[in-house]
Amino acid sequence: MLRAAAFMLVAAARPSTVGAILPSSRHLADAMARAAQGAERLIELGAGTGAITEALCDHHPHVPTLAVELDALLADQLRERFPHVEVRVAPAHRVLRELPAHAGPTALVSSLPFRSLPLRLRLRSSLAIERCLLANSSHRLIQYTYQPRVPFDLRLGGSLRWQRLDVVWRNVPPAWVWELRARAR
Ligand SMILES: C[S@@+](CC[C@H](N)C(=O)[O-])C[C@H]1O[C@@H](n2cnc3c(N)ncnc32)[C@H](O)[C@@H]1O
Repeated sequence: MLRAAAFMLVAAARPSTVGAILPSSRHLADAMARAAQGAERLIELGAGTGAITEALCDHHPHVPTLAVELDALLADQLRERFPHVEVRVAPAHRVLRELPAHAGPTALVSSLPFRSLPLRLRLRSSLAIERCLLANSSHRLIQYTYQPRVPFDLRLGGSLRWQRLDVVWRNVPPAWVWELRARAR
């Protein structure tokens, strides 16, 4: 099945967890991949059709990459298309909980639609991300939004700070790229 068609099917069936009308554009995917520069491991959260996975593989061909996707149909397509990428069908928070704290610098590259996710899933996902970044200050989250506001409000906070990195107009709709990481005060 065509990727865009599969995406639209899943989006129609589960609009709150997909949270988009179209896959990410190549421009957005490149901006996300550039923002992950320097990471020794990549974990893509909500990989969907693989638009960003493709850019991650192109920009960082030697960095081990794990793609996490909730939907089994989309995950099957990811496995077929990216045989060198490990693909897990699981909610992001479960995968992050299992991440060893001593892992090297890791970029979480996320398409999770925080503004539309069901409340429980949204809170679990954001909390797991905050815990992961607070446990190891070399980790960071790269996330996009469809509005010029932070992807989610921090609940643990601590030394974590949002920074806006980029605006990508050539995406439907335009997207803002953000980084969350621990920063010195
Ligand atoms: C905005 S769409 C994907 C966009 C992706 N960049 C693309 O171009 O296809 C968000 C994706 O996140 C997945 N998703 C939503 N909540 C999730 C969760 N808690 N864990 C893992 N994947 C999730 C959805 O199934 C959907 O495929």
